[in-house]
Amino acid sequence: MAKKIIAVTGSTGAQGGGLVRAILDDPASEFAVRAITRKPDSDKAKALAKRGVEVVAGDLDDVDSLRRAFAGAYGAYLVTNFWEHFSADKEIAQARSMATAAKDAGLRHVLWSTLEDTRKRVPLSDSRMPTLHGKWKVPHFDGKGEADPIFKEAGLPTTWLLTSFYWENLIYFGMNPKKGPDGKLAITLPMGNAKLPGIAAEDIGRSAYGIFKRGSEFIGKTVGIAGDHPTGAQMAASLSKALGQEVVYNAVSFDAFRSFGFPGADDLGNMFQYKHDFNREFCAARDVAFTRTLNPKLQTFDQWATANKDRIPLK
Ligand SMILES: NC(=O)c1ccc[n+]([C@@H]2O[C@H](COP(=O)([O-])OP(=O)(O)OC[C@H]3O[C@@H](n4cnc5c(N)ncnc54)[C@H](OP(=O)(O)O)[C@@H]3O)[C@@H](O)[C@H]2O)c1
Repeated sequence: MAKKIIAVTGSTGAQGGGLVRAILDDPASEFAVRAITRKPDSDKAKALAKRGVEVVAGDLDDVDSLRRAFAGAYGAYLVTNFWEHFSADKEIAQARSMATAAKDAGLRHVLWSTLEDTRKRVPLSDSRMPTLHGKWKVPHFDGKGEADPIFKEAGLPTTWLLTSFYWENLIYFGMNPKKGPDGKLAITLPMGNAKLPGIAAEDIGRSAYGIFKRGSEFIGKTVGIAGDHPTGAQMAASLSKALGQEVVYNAVSFDAFRSFGFPGADDLGNMFQYKHDFNREFCAARDVAFTRTLNPKLQTFDQWATANKDRIPLK
């Protein structure tokens, strides 16, 4: 029987790439993968083609290209990349294009990679954190959350996938341990004693694959995933063990984090405040034991830190 095709946006990136690899790593899978990229000639796309993946051109800003890319597929993994353009409005427009194309292609299961619209708990009138660009609290969350109903309104068989903080932010996103004035390595987060649900980026795609494999079970549902819920102090302890040198947790205030000045510092400061202030709800939406039923390879922070110790920059 012909395999059912899952069309994967973001296939050359962390989330989509993880799903591509999860399917490739399961040769007996009922699914085949179709990788969507704007640049089929890029090294990353060519590497996928070399592994036998069907690579097709598609741009989230071009609905016709998405119609072509989704044609004949069973399902699709849908992800936007806020950090390429810093525009939540653009993410919403891209979600709309993906929903339109998915509907036209008659897809039978789409996974929308989303995050909470924080304004449902922190309305713009709530002064605990600044309003950004006039209409957002946490732009890279709120746009995705605002886009959630688009898929339902389109009548698409959808699973809303609530992702978590990537442990890889300690490698690529400037959140690695750095030496403080006392010479000690420290991770700096405005989380107080609250828990930070997180996940190895590769485990997002593996969990998404687990959802596709379970057929219609999660259609119409929101599924939250995390590999662990460590506190900042627990993360520092795991890093100390993995790196073989002491790492301390530098718990800064939300305002201090927002003022760090790098692009998106205000967005991330608000994000951490949201995760801190609604810690119970935020963690409850991302159950680790449940995630492990989708993805038995799920890594805790401790496991991830040990496996990735040589990739974590220390300055
Ligand atoms: N960092 C975190 O802790 C974290 C946690 C949860 C969620 N997120 C969310 O994850 C998202 C990014 O996902 P990622 O980390 O997997 O991305 P990534 O590794 O940075 O890669 C971006 C991917 O998006 C594709 N892409 C971007 N714009 C596109 C367009 N216009 N048309 C087609 N493809 C496009 C790129 O494909 P080509 O370049 O090949 O076309 C690439 O595959 C962000 O929106 C972020 O908010 C991040």
